[in-house]
Amino acid sequence: MASYKSADWNATKYMQFGDERTRPARELLAQISLTSPKRVIDLGCGPGNSTELLAAKYPDSRLTGLDSSPNMLEMARKVLPDVEFALTDLSTYTPNEEVDVFFSNAVFQWIPGEQRIPIIARLLESQPSGSIFAFQVPDNFMEPSHAAMRETAAEGPWAATLAAANPARESVPSPQVLYEALKPLCSHVNIWHTYYYHILENHRAIIDWVSSTGLRPFVESLPEDQKKGFLEDYLKRIEKSYMPLVDGRVMLTYPRLFAVLHRA
Ligand SMILES: C[S@@+](CC[C@H](N)C(=O)[O-])C[C@H]1O[C@@H](n2cnc3c(N)ncnc32)[C@H](O)[C@@H]1O
Repeated sequence: MASYKSADWNATKYMQFGDERTRPARELLAQISLTSPKRVIDLGCGPGNSTELLAAKYPDSRLTGLDSSPNMLEMARKVLPDVEFALTDLSTYTPNEEVDVFFSNAVFQWIPGEQRIPIIARLLESQPSGSIFAFQVPDNFMEPSHAAMRETAAEGPWAATLAAANPARESVPSPQVLYEALKPLCSHVNIWHTYYYHILENHRAIIDWVSSTGLRPFVESLPEDQKKGFLEDYLKRIEKSYMPLVDGRVMLTYPRLFAVLHRA
Protein backbone atom coordinates (compact mmCIF):
# COMPACT_ATOMS: atom_id res chain seq x y z
CA MET A 1 0.00 0.00 0.00
CA ALA A 2 1.26 3.50 -0.82
CA SER A 3 2.40 5.42 2.23
CA TYR A 4 1.33 8.92 3.17
CA LYS A 5 3.05 11.76 1.30
CA SER A 6 3.73 14.56 3.75
CA ALA A 7 2.71 18.18 3.41
CA ASP A 8 5.29 20.59 4.79
CA TRP A 9 6.28 20.76 8.46
CA ASN A 10 5.58 23.61 10.84
CA ALA A 11 8.94 24.41 12.45
CA THR A 12 7.46 26.76 15.06
CA LYS A 13 4.99 24.15 16.30
CA TYR A 14 7.75 21.52 16.31
CA MET A 15 9.94 23.72 18.50
CA GLN A 16 7.15 24.26 21.06
CA PHE A 17 8.80 21.27 22.76
CA GLY A 18 12.28 22.12 21.51
CA ASP A 19 14.14 21.33 24.75
CA GLU A 20 12.59 17.89 25.03
CA ARG A 21 13.13 17.13 21.34
CA THR A 22 16.77 18.27 21.40
CA ARG A 23 17.79 16.43 24.57
CA PRO A 24 18.22 13.06 22.80
CA ALA A 25 20.41 14.77 20.17
CA ARG A 26 22.62 16.02 22.98
CA GLU A 27 22.81 12.54 24.51
CA LEU A 28 23.57 10.96 21.14
CA LEU A 29 26.32 13.49 20.43
CA ALA A 30 27.90 12.82 23.84
CA GLN A 31 28.61 9.25 22.69
CA ILE A 32 30.63 10.33 19.65
CA SER A 33 34.28 10.27 20.60
CA LEU A 34 35.69 11.71 17.34
CA THR A 35 37.24 15.03 18.31
CA SER A 36 38.06 16.80 15.04
CA PRO A 37 36.11 15.45 12.06
CA LYS A 38 36.67 17.39 8.84
CA ARG A 39 33.20 16.82 7.36
CA VAL A 40 29.97 16.60 9.36
CA ILE A 41 26.44 16.23 7.99
CA ASP A 42 23.18 16.54 9.94
CA LEU A 43 20.71 14.29 8.11
CA GLY A 44 17.16 15.62 8.59
CA CYS A 45 18.40 18.72 10.38
CA GLY A 46 14.87 20.12 10.86
CA PRO A 47 14.84 23.67 12.26
CA GLY A 48 18.58 23.49 13.04
CA ASN A 49 18.31 22.47 16.69
CA SER A 50 20.46 19.36 16.21
CA THR A 51 22.76 21.23 13.79
CA GLU A 52 23.39 23.85 16.47
CA LEU A 53 24.79 21.18 18.80
CA LEU A 54 27.09 19.89 16.05
CA ALA A 55 28.28 23.44 15.28
CA ALA A 56 29.15 23.96 18.96
CA LYS A 57 30.99 20.63 19.31
CA TYR A 58 32.82 20.86 15.97
CA PRO A 59 33.53 24.56 15.30
CA ASP A 60 36.36 23.72 12.89
CA SER A 61 34.48 21.17 10.79
CA ARG A 62 32.66 21.79 7.55
CA LEU A 63 29.05 21.29 8.60
CA THR A 64 25.94 20.91 6.43
CA GLY A 65 22.32 20.31 7.37
CA LEU A 66 20.14 18.38 4.92
CA ASP A 67 16.36 18.25 5.05
CA SER A 68 13.42 17.77 2.69
CA SER A 69 11.22 20.42 4.37
CA PRO A 70 11.42 24.01 3.06
CA ASN A 71 9.73 25.29 6.24
CA MET A 72 12.22 23.55 8.53
CA LEU A 73 15.16 24.79 6.44
CA GLU A 74 13.86 28.35 6.54
CA MET A 75 14.06 28.33 10.34
CA ALA A 76 17.43 26.51 10.32
CA ARG A 77 18.95 29.20 8.07
CA LYS A 78 17.68 31.95 10.37
CA VAL A 79 19.05 30.24 13.50
CA LEU A 80 22.43 29.38 11.95
CA PRO A 81 23.15 31.85 9.14
CA ASP A 82 26.77 30.69 8.83
CA VAL A 83 25.94 27.03 8.31
CA GLU A 84 25.21 25.52 4.90
CA PHE A 85 21.78 23.91 4.52
CA ALA A 86 20.40 22.08 1.50
CA LEU A 87 16.99 20.80 0.48
CA THR A 88 17.61 17.07 0.07
CA ASP A 89 15.58 13.88 0.17
CA LEU A 90 17.49 11.22 2.09
CA SER A 91 15.81 8.47 0.08
CA THR A 92 17.90 9.43 -2.94
CA TYR A 93 20.82 11.29 -1.35
CA THR A 94 24.29 10.07 -2.30
CA PRO A 95 27.29 11.94 -0.88
CA ASN A 96 29.95 12.93 -3.40
CA GLU A 97 32.65 13.19 -0.72
CA GLU A 98 33.86 11.36 2.38
CA VAL A 99 31.88 12.26 5.48
CA ASP A 100 33.41 11.74 8.93
CA VAL A 101 30.21 12.15 10.95
CA PHE A 102 26.68 11.50 9.76
CA PHE A 103 24.32 12.57 12.53
CA SER A 104 20.57 12.08 12.49
CA ASN A 105 18.19 12.89 15.34
CA ALA A 106 14.55 11.79 15.04
CA VAL A 107 14.46 11.41 11.26
CA PHE A 108 14.57 7.80 10.07
CA GLN A 109 11.13 7.01 11.54
CA TRP A 110 9.78 9.27 8.75
CA ILE A 111 11.34 7.15 6.03
CA PRO A 112 9.36 4.12 4.82
CA GLY A 113 10.32 1.05 6.88
CA GLU A 114 11.91 -1.00 4.10
CA GLN A 115 14.19 1.90 3.07
CA ARG A 116 15.65 2.77 6.48
CA ILE A 117 18.40 0.18 6.89
CA PRO A 118 19.38 0.23 3.18
CA ILE A 119 19.83 4.03 3.32
CA ILE A 120 21.94 3.84 6.49
CA ALA A 121 24.01 0.99 4.99
CA ARG A 122 24.51 2.90 1.72
CA LEU A 123 25.73 6.02 3.54
CA LEU A 124 27.92 3.99 5.90
CA GLU A 125 29.51 2.24 2.93
CA SER A 126 30.52 5.63 1.50
CA GLN A 127 32.31 6.64 4.72
CA PRO A 128 36.02 6.27 5.46
CA SER A 129 37.30 3.82 8.04
CA GLY A 130 37.06 5.24 11.58
CA SER A 131 34.14 7.54 10.76
CA ILE A 132 30.79 7.62 12.57
CA PHE A 133 27.13 7.25 11.67
CA ALA A 134 25.01 8.21 14.70
CA PHE A 135 21.24 8.23 14.85
CA GLN A 136 18.28 8.27 17.21
CA VAL A 137 14.69 7.30 16.44
CA PRO A 138 11.57 7.45 18.61
CA ASP A 139 10.41 3.94 19.46
CA ASN A 140 6.86 4.90 20.37
CA PHE A 141 4.79 2.94 17.84
CA MET A 142 3.17 0.91 20.64
CA GLU A 143 2.79 3.81 23.10
CA PRO A 144 -0.83 4.85 23.87
CA SER A 145 -0.23 8.23 22.16
CA HIS A 146 0.36 6.42 18.85
CA ALA A 147 -1.89 3.39 19.31
CA ALA A 148 -4.76 5.84 19.93
CA MET A 149 -4.12 7.53 16.56
CA ARG A 150 -4.50 4.22 14.77
CA GLU A 151 -7.59 3.27 16.80
CA THR A 152 -9.27 6.61 16.16
CA ALA A 153 -8.39 6.31 12.47
CA ALA A 154 -9.87 2.82 12.19
CA GLU A 155 -13.15 3.44 13.99
CA GLY A 156 -14.63 6.76 12.85
CA PRO A 157 -16.51 7.94 9.75
CA TRP A 158 -13.05 8.80 8.35
CA ALA A 159 -11.92 5.15 8.43
CA ALA A 160 -12.03 4.60 4.64
CA THR A 161 -10.28 7.91 3.89
CA LEU A 162 -7.50 7.16 6.36
CA ALA A 163 -7.13 3.53 5.32
CA ALA A 164 -6.48 4.78 1.78
CA ALA A 165 -4.08 7.54 2.93
CA ASN A 166 -2.14 5.12 5.18
CA PRO A 167 -0.74 7.83 7.48
CA ALA A 168 0.65 5.57 10.25
CA ARG A 169 4.42 5.21 10.35
CA GLU A 170 6.02 1.82 10.77
CA SER A 171 7.71 0.66 13.95
CA VAL A 172 11.49 1.06 14.14
CA PRO A 173 13.70 -2.05 13.80
CA SER A 174 14.74 -3.90 16.94
CA PRO A 175 18.31 -3.48 18.24
CA GLN A 176 19.02 -7.06 17.15
CA VAL A 177 17.86 -6.43 13.57
CA LEU A 178 19.93 -3.23 13.42
CA TYR A 179 23.01 -4.99 14.74
CA GLU A 180 22.68 -7.95 12.36
CA ALA A 181 22.22 -5.65 9.36
CA LEU A 182 24.90 -3.06 10.10
CA LYS A 183 27.65 -4.82 12.06
CA PRO A 184 29.24 -6.24 8.87
CA LEU A 185 30.10 -2.61 7.91
CA CYS A 186 31.30 -1.59 11.38
CA SER A 187 34.19 -2.15 13.74
CA HIS A 188 31.95 -1.33 16.70
CA VAL A 189 28.23 -0.80 17.22
CA ASN A 190 26.92 1.04 20.28
CA ILE A 191 23.13 0.68 20.66
CA TRP A 192 21.02 1.83 23.60
CA HIS A 193 17.46 2.64 24.47
CA THR A 194 16.16 5.39 26.77
CA TYR A 195 12.74 6.07 28.25
CA TYR A 196 11.99 9.76 28.71
CA TYR A 197 9.09 10.73 30.98
CA HIS A 198 7.85 14.13 29.87
CA ILE A 199 5.60 15.89 32.36
CA LEU A 200 3.05 17.87 30.36
CA GLU A 201 0.41 20.32 31.59
CA ASN A 202 -2.62 18.31 30.49
CA HIS A 203 -3.98 15.91 27.89
CA ARG A 204 -4.25 18.64 25.28
CA ALA A 205 -0.50 19.16 25.61
CA ILE A 206 0.00 15.55 24.48
CA ILE A 207 -2.01 16.42 21.38
CA ASP A 208 0.07 19.59 20.90
CA TRP A 209 3.22 17.44 21.13
CA VAL A 210 2.15 14.91 18.49
CA SER A 211 0.25 17.30 16.26
CA SER A 212 3.46 18.63 14.71
CA THR A 213 4.85 15.09 14.30
CA GLY A 214 3.08 11.70 14.32
CA LEU A 215 -0.52 13.00 14.35
CA ARG A 216 0.05 15.46 11.52
CA PRO A 217 -0.25 12.94 8.65
CA PHE A 218 -3.61 11.70 10.02
CA VAL A 219 -5.14 15.17 10.35
CA GLU A 220 -3.74 16.39 7.03
CA SER A 221 -5.31 13.42 5.25
CA LEU A 222 -8.82 14.39 6.38
CA PRO A 223 -11.28 16.77 4.76
CA GLU A 224 -11.71 19.98 6.80
CA ASP A 225 -15.16 18.99 8.11
CA GLN A 226 -13.81 15.79 9.73
CA LYS A 227 -10.73 17.19 11.46
CA LYS A 228 -12.52 18.48 14.57
CA GLY A 229 -14.39 15.21 15.15
CA PHE A 230 -11.21 13.19 14.68
CA LEU A 231 -9.32 15.31 17.23
CA GLU A 232 -12.16 15.08 19.76
CA ASP A 233 -12.25 11.29 19.45
CA TYR A 234 -8.46 11.13 19.77
CA LEU A 235 -8.53 13.37 22.87
CA LYS A 236 -11.05 11.04 24.57
CA ARG A 237 -8.74 8.08 24.02
CA ILE A 238 -5.76 10.05 25.32
CA GLU A 239 -7.73 11.00 28.45
CA LYS A 240 -8.48 7.32 29.08
CA SER A 241 -4.87 6.22 28.54
CA TYR A 242 -2.99 8.82 30.59
CA MET A 243 -4.12 9.12 34.22
CA PRO A 244 -3.65 12.58 35.77
CA LEU A 245 -0.69 12.74 38.17
CA VAL A 246 -0.75 14.02 41.75
CA ASP A 247 -0.42 17.61 40.50
CA GLY A 248 -3.02 17.23 37.75
CA ARG A 249 -0.45 17.01 35.01
CA VAL A 250 0.22 13.98 32.76
CA MET A 251 3.28 11.87 32.00
CA LEU A 252 4.11 11.20 28.35
CA THR A 253 6.31 8.11 28.25
CA TYR A 254 8.67 8.43 25.30
CA PRO A 255 11.04 5.57 24.39
CA ARG A 256 13.88 6.28 21.99
CA LEU A 257 16.43 4.02 20.30
CA PHE A 258 20.01 5.23 19.75
CA ALA A 259 22.90 3.86 17.70
CA VAL A 260 26.47 5.01 17.15
CA LEU A 261 28.04 3.02 14.31
CA HIS A 262 31.84 3.04 13.90
CA ARG A 263 32.77 2.39 10.24
CA ALA A 264 35.24 -0.48 9.87
C1 LIG B 1 11.39 15.20 13.90
S1 LIG B 1 12.29 16.27 12.83
C2 LIG B 1 13.93 16.19 13.50
C3 LIG B 1 14.61 17.52 13.40
C4 LIG B 1 15.95 17.64 14.13
N1 LIG B 1 16.95 16.73 13.57
C5 LIG B 1 15.86 17.42 15.62
O1 LIG B 1 16.85 16.96 16.19
O2 LIG B 1 14.85 17.75 16.27
C6 LIG B 1 12.41 15.22 11.43
C7 LIG B 1 13.00 15.92 10.22
O3 LIG B 1 13.30 14.94 9.23
C8 LIG B 1 13.02 15.49 7.96
N2 LIG B 1 12.82 14.41 7.01
C9 LIG B 1 11.87 13.45 7.04
N3 LIG B 1 11.99 12.64 5.97
C10 LIG B 1 13.04 13.11 5.26
C11 LIG B 1 13.68 12.71 4.04
N4 LIG B 1 13.24 11.66 3.34
N5 LIG B 1 14.72 13.42 3.61
C12 LIG B 1 15.17 14.50 4.31
N6 LIG B 1 14.63 14.92 5.47
C13 LIG B 1 13.58 14.24 5.92
C14 LIG B 1 11.78 16.32 8.20
O4 LIG B 1 11.57 17.26 7.18
C15 LIG B 1 12.05 16.92 9.56
O5 LIG B 1 12.65 18.16 9.47
